[in-house]
Amino acid sequence: MDIAIIGSGYVGLVTGACLAKLGNKVICVDNDSGKVSALKRGQIPIYEPGLKELIKGNVKNKRLSFSTSIKDAVKASEVIFIAVGTPDSGNGEADLTGIEHVAADIAINLKSYRLIVEKSTVPVETGEWVKRTITTHIKGKAAFDVASNPEFLREGSAINDFMHPDRIVIGVESKRARDLLLKLYRPLHAPIVVTNIKSAELIKHASNAFLATKISFINAVSRICDIAEADVREVARGMGLDKRIGQGFLNAGIGYGGSCFPKDLEALVSIADKMGYDFKLLKEVKKINEGQKDAIVDKIKGSLWIIKGKTIGILGLAFKPDTDDIRNSPALDLIRLLQREGANIKAYDPKGMVKARGILKKVTFCRDPYLVCRGSDCLFIATEWNEFKELNLLKVKKLLKRPLIIDGRNIYEPEKMRKLGFRYISVGRKDIC
Ligand SMILES: NC(=O)c1ccc[n+]([C@@H]2O[C@H](COP(=O)([O-])OP(=O)(O)OC[C@H]3O[C@@H](n4cnc5c(N)ncnc54)[C@H](O)[C@@H]3O)[C@@H](O)[C@H]2O)c1
Repeated sequence: MDIAIIGSGYVGLVTGACLAKLGNKVICVDNDSGKVSALKRGQIPIYEPGLKELIKGNVKNKRLSFSTSIKDAVKASEVIFIAVGTPDSGNGEADLTGIEHVAADIAINLKSYRLIVEKSTVPVETGEWVKRTITTHIKGKAAFDVASNPEFLREGSAINDFMHPDRIVIGVESKRARDLLLKLYRPLHAPIVVTNIKSAELIKHASNAFLATKISFINAVSRICDIAEADVREVARGMGLDKRIGQGFLNAGIGYGGSCFPKDLEALVSIADKMGYDFKLLKEVKKINEGQKDAIVDKIKGSLWIIKGKTIGILGLAFKPDTDDIRNSPALDLIRLLQREGANIKAYDPKGMVKARGILKKVTFCRDPYLVCRGSDCLFIATEWNEFKELNLLKVKKLLKRPLIIDGRNIYEPEKMRKLGFRYISVGRKDIC
C-alpha cells in the first residue's frame, strides 16, 4: 500500500520504517526541514535500538522516503497517518494545534479518496474535530474517511512492540476504512480490536492512565515498606504473580515520566472535567507521583545531612533505559530539586547527554560512570540502564568520597551492597547503613 506518515518523531519514524519493512511504500513527512535533510543524509535524529539499520535498509529498497511536503505525500498515498506531537498545552489540555494544521493541509490537497488516521494520542472526540476541519478546508468533492489507530509502542523496544503488538486498536466509521486498516495490519498476526473512533481514542488514554496508576500504586506501597521495613520488590512480585494483577509496571522508583504518561493522564483528567466528571483518582495518581520525587530528595538529605555544597553524582538522565528521550524525565526534575538545595551535579547517561546538555544548566557531564563517581559525595541511580547494573562497584567505592549509593531504581541487591561495605539507600527496602 502507499502510505504517508505526517510527523517523523519517535512514533512516526518507527511506524514508517516498520510499515515499509512489511512491504508498503512509505513517505515520512515532517515540517522540521533540518530533520528531513538529516534523514535524507542517513542521519537518524533519535536513538531507538535497531531503527537506524531498519531505515537504511528500507531507503535502499526504495520503500521509504522523507519529505517536507504534505502535498506530495497526500498525492502519493491512500492512507495518511497523523503522528505529530500532542504535548500538554500548559493547563493540562492536550495541545492539538499540530493535528489541526495537518488536517487542514491534508484537506487542501485532497483530490480523491484518502483515509486519514489519527496515530497521535488524542482526547476522545478529536476525530470529530479532524472530520470538521477537513470538511471546512476541502476544495473539491473528494471522499475521505477518518480513523483512529492509537500507538502503544514503548521507546527502547519500539520496533519489536510495533511488529509484535499485544493488540492493534482500530476505530472506524466505514467498511472501506476498516478494510484498508485490516489489510495493512494483517501481516502482523495480532489481535485486532475494531471499534468506533471515540472508543479507540479513549482506549489509548485509559491504558496510559491505568499504567501510571499502577506505578503510583506501587510507589505508595513503597512508602509503607520504607516505614515498616518490608521489601517492596517482594511485595510487587507476590502481587504480580496473580494473573489478574500482572508483573508489569509494579517497579517502585522515582516516579513515572517521559513524553506520554504525565501529559496523557493530564489530558484525560482535563477532558473528563470538561465533560462534567471529576476524575479524582487520576488527580491523586499525579500527586503521588510528584510526592515520590520529594521523598527521594528527603532520602538524599537524610543520608548526606546538608546538601548545599555537596557533589552528587547522577547516573541516568533518560526517562527510561534504551532511549535518548529526556522529555519529562524524573531524573531531570530531581537534578533541579537538588540544585535548588545547593548541590553540585555531575551526570552521565549512555544516550541522553546530547539532549540534556541543551536543557540542564550548571551540570558537569562526564564521559563515563566512573568519572561521575570520582570525588562525589554520593551516587544516585536515576535510570536503570544495564550498564549501571554491571558497574565495578569496588572501583565505584574507591572513587566516591564516601561509600554512599542512593538507588532510585532498586537495581542492586541490598545484601550484596552491605558485603561490599556501602551505605545503600533504595526505594521501599530496608536501608543498609
Ligand atoms: N513517544 C512514544 O513513546 C509514544 C508512544 C505512543 C504514542 N505516542 C504519541 O504519538 C504522538 C507523537 O509522539 P512522538 O514521541 O513521536 O513525538 P515527537 O515529538 O518525537 O515527534 C513529532 C514530530 O512531528 C513533527 N511535527 C509537528 N508538527 C508538524 C506539522 N504540522 N507537520 C509535520 N510535522 C510536524 C515534529 O517536528 C516532530 O518531528 C504523540 O501524540 C504521542 O503522545 C508517543
